[in-house]
Amino acid sequence: MSENTIALVTGANKGIGYEIAAGLGARGWKVGVGARDDGRREAAVEKLRANGVDAFGVPLDVTDDAGVAAAAHLIEEVHGGLDVLVNNAGITGGMPQNPTEVSIDQMRAAVETNVFGVVRVINAMLPLLRRSAAPRIVNMSSGVGSLARQTATDDPLAVGPISGAYSPTKTYLNAVTIQYAKELRDTNILINLGCPGFVATDLNGFRGVRTPEEGARIAISLATLPDDGPTGGYFEDAGLIPW
Ligand SMILES: NC(=O)c1ccc[n+]([C@@H]2O[C@H](COP(=O)([O-])OP(=O)(O)OC[C@H]3O[C@@H](n4cnc5c(N)ncnc54)[C@H](OP(=O)(O)O)[C@@H]3O)[C@@H](O)[C@H]2O)c1
Repeated sequence: MSENTIALVTGANKGIGYEIAAGLGARGWKVGVGARDDGRREAAVEKLRANGVDAFGVPLDVTDDAGVAAAAHLIEEVHGGLDVLVNNAGITGGMPQNPTEVSIDQMRAAVETNVFGVVRVINAMLPLLRRSAAPRIVNMSSGVGSLARQTATDDPLAVGPISGAYSPTKTYLNAVTIQYAKELRDTNILINLGCPGFVATDLNGFRGVRTPEEGARIAISLATLPDDGPTGGYFEDAGLIPW
């Protein structure tokens, strides 16, 4: 990991993703701001640059096959490679979330972004990551994806809203990430899941109790793991999360 390290953060135009980009940029890394809206992306890139970050914009809608392939091409051709990928983009799927009321379209949208979007981006970026000396992949999950916590009766962290669309996507993302870790175990790629805690962002109508900067910490720490760091793990600031 050096000043030549290049990172891509998806959904980096606001919230936790913006702060992950800022934190990685503060280490002297070159940071790609993946965002689907041109105006929001350019505003974030400008703000990061004004704060001294070597930021560049990457047009990226994680649900779009051709767009994700084009993003990989842009990063390779214009910026020379990729060392670190942070899959941060995510949606709740909207309300209601009671499983008796949630629509199949809501569930499909949440899976499309939170799970298939991550798979799409990882697979497009893997050829670049494989050429890196210290590749890292961080998937932004959530503690609400933990089946252990969802079913615990004595764990205060288990108390969360009923979530028929959103929480299951994070469980699915956890399961898929384990499979990536198994496939990539004999490579130098470390892939891990991070939970930012309950953070005040658009995602939850700013009801969270942590700042986006605090929420970004776990992803930054997993993005900057040493070569002998863990892979296939599920972490929050306090340590491992039970599956
Ligand atoms: N906030 C929390 O308490 C909390 C807790 C646990 C986990 N998380 C996870 O942390 C991550 C970041 O969430 P946040 O709280 O920072 O939410 P946020 O402020 O709503 O930001 C979400 C980001 O994802 C982007 N995005 C959504 N769909 C996209 C798509 N199809 N393609 C590309 N970008 C897309 C959004 O872009 P637009 O601006 O274009 O919509 C935005 O940049 C998510 O994965 C979330 O599930 C959050």
